[in-house]
Amino acid sequence: MRKIEFLDTSLRDGEQTPGVNFSVQEKIDIAKQLEKWGISAIEAGFPAASPDSFLAVSEIAKAMTSTAVTGLCRCVKGDIDKASLALKDAKYPQVHVFIATSPVHMEYKLKMTPDEVIASIAEHVTYARSLFEIVEFSPEDATRTDKDFLLKAVQTAVDNGATYINIPDTVGYTTPEEFGQIFKFLIENVKTDHKIIFSPHCHDDLGMATANTLAAIKNGAGRVEGTVNGIGERAGNVALEEVAVALHIRKDYYQATSDIVLNRTKTTADMISRYSGLSIPKNKAVTGGNAFAHESGIHQDGVLKNPETYEIITPELVGIKFNSLPLGKLSGRHAFKEKLKELEFEFTDEELNQHFANFKKLADKKKEITDEDVRALILGHNSAD
Ligand code: KIV
Ligand code: ZN
Repeated sequence: MRKIEFLDTSLRDGEQTPGVNFSVQEKIDIAKQLEKWGISAIEAGFPAASPDSFLAVSEIAKAMTSTAVTGLCRCVKGDIDKASLALKDAKYPQVHVFIATSPVHMEYKLKMTPDEVIASIAEHVTYARSLFEIVEFSPEDATRTDKDFLLKAVQTAVDNGATYINIPDTVGYTTPEEFGQIFKFLIENVKTDHKIIFSPHCHDDLGMATANTLAAIKNGAGRVEGTVNGIGERAGNVALEEVAVALHIRKDYYQATSDIVLNRTKTTADMISRYSGLSIPKNKAVTGGNAFAHESGIHQDGVLKNPETYEIITPELVGIKFNSLPLGKLSGRHAFKEKLKELEFEFTDEELNQHFANFKKLADKKKEITDEDVRALILGHNSAD
């Protein structure tokens, strides 16, 4: 069975969501959680975009122990130099170079001819490869690019040393059948003397990002790109938790699985939701509040007789625990400590005592203390006084 790598771009493409602006500290917290979740590479930002973006990428580079860290660059030498500087302390550095290849982007945005775009790919992938062992290349708007020109662009990147080829469905235009065919065509026709891995990068404008990503896997992709909760430009990126769970539940169909630690999914999704300020829709697949709720009598009856009648995913699989430890004013230090462990907080005894005292004050005022209340208390967003 193939193992699919996961690249998370919540901190780069995800931060392009209107109104979302993570602080450097929030980005470091998120990156650490993504590493625990089993993400193999984090796109930590666009180092040339701003001093804060540069700082976040360099701090994340230092903080990661097993996860690779990458930064986005245009086909501009200065961008690649900035990325090289920001990623100098990464244990596993990568770089991601992109340029648009569709007619509308080349003519109106880049104001470059197709030949100039090909020359730029050759020049900048070569330059990136002189500074990094692992170079990812993306032909932006690939799904609206002429098929033979796409092959030429990808072949040029591979000939000049690219190791990952990412195929972005930049405007969420493609369909599963069509996207699968693009992967099949490229994988069959790109000639290479070194190992290359293809990946999909799907946007959700037509609501097909998960289906398109899975179609790419079915047709040979070895890595997927996306964000937690599907945050991102416009309708967002593919939600990685949906891809991870689909691969797990339908592994026989896809003949592929991943290293994602599924029971850390809910904690990861909640953190992104809290820091982005974007709540998870109730009916969201995998992590929504209603994803495991059964309302109709027939469904309730079936689930009580055997949960498998209407549940293909158990809440425990993705780390959702129903009232496992309801907390209230009678709860003791032990139960509180267990809850913190469940929510993946770690404290010294002294810190724990302080948080427990605050919890007791809050519990005096509130009948039931939810997981969100505990998180807010710990992160200082909610005062017990
Ligand atoms: O959607 C897109 O085309 C991108 C590229 C920069 C990879 O985010
Ligand atoms: Zn994107």
